Amino acid sequence: MAKEEEKDSGNSTPTNLSRRDVIKGVIAAGAVSSASYLFRTSTTWAEASAPGAVERLITLNVNGQQRRVDVMKQETLAMTLRYKLGLTGTKLGCDRAECGACTVLIDDVPRYSCSTLTHTVRDKKIVTIEGLAGADGKPHPVQQGVLDEQGFQCGFCAPGFIMAAVGFLRTNPNPTRAQLAHGVSGNLCVCRDYDKILTALMRGAEYMRKA
Ligand code: FES
Ligand code: FES
Repeated sequence: MAKEEEKDSGNSTPTNLSRRDVIKGVIAAGAVSSASYLFRTSTTWAEASAPGAVERLITLNVNGQQRRVDVMKQETLAMTLRYKLGLTGTKLGCDRAECGACTVLIDDVPRYSCSTLTHTVRDKKIVTIEGLAGADGKPHPVQQGVLDEQGFQCGFCAPGFIMAAVGFLRTNPNPTRAQLAHGVSGNLCVCRDYDKILTALMRGAEYMRKA
C-alpha cells in the first residue's frame, strides 16, 4: 500500500541509484546552469524555441564581407557577431547600453551592438575591431597608438574605446584632449585608467592624421 501511494504522488525517490549516479546528476545540472549564465541563454536563445520565434536567413555586410546568417527577430547584433559569426573582439559588458564595450561602426557611426537589432542593419556597413586593420595586416593608426602607449590595463574595454575613437575621429580628426574625452564618453573602463586611455587615443589620432 505504501508503495502504491509513493507511485501515485509522482514524488518518489528512486532508491536504486548509486552514490556515483547522484554525484553525476548534480555535476550535470551545475554544468547546464553555468553554461546558460556564461552564454546568456536565459532570454535570447531560450526564446528561439518559443512559439512564433522563428529565425530567418539574412545577409550582413561585416568587415567588407557578405555574411549569411540565421537571426531571430529579437536578436541583438552583439549576439550575432559573437555567437554566430565568431567575432568575439566585440565585447559584452552590461548588455544594456551603459558601458560601450560592444561598440561597432555602423555606416561609420559608433553604435552599441548590444542595443541594435541585427535585422535592422541588413543594408548597412558593419565594422568590428577585427575589420579595422588594413588589408596588409597593419594595425589601424588608433590601434597602433594604443599599442605604443600601452593605454589599457586588462584590455576588456579596449575594442569598444577604439571603435568609438575611430568613429569620432572621422568627424573631428584633430580634437583637443577634452573633445576626444567627450567623443568617447559613452565608454566606461572598469580599471579606470582614463588618463592613459586618452593619451593612447590622442596618439592614435596623431597617427591617423599622418596616415
Ligand atoms: S555591452 Fe553594450 S553598452 Fe555595455
Ligand atoms: S582596461 Fe580593464 S576594463 Fe578598461
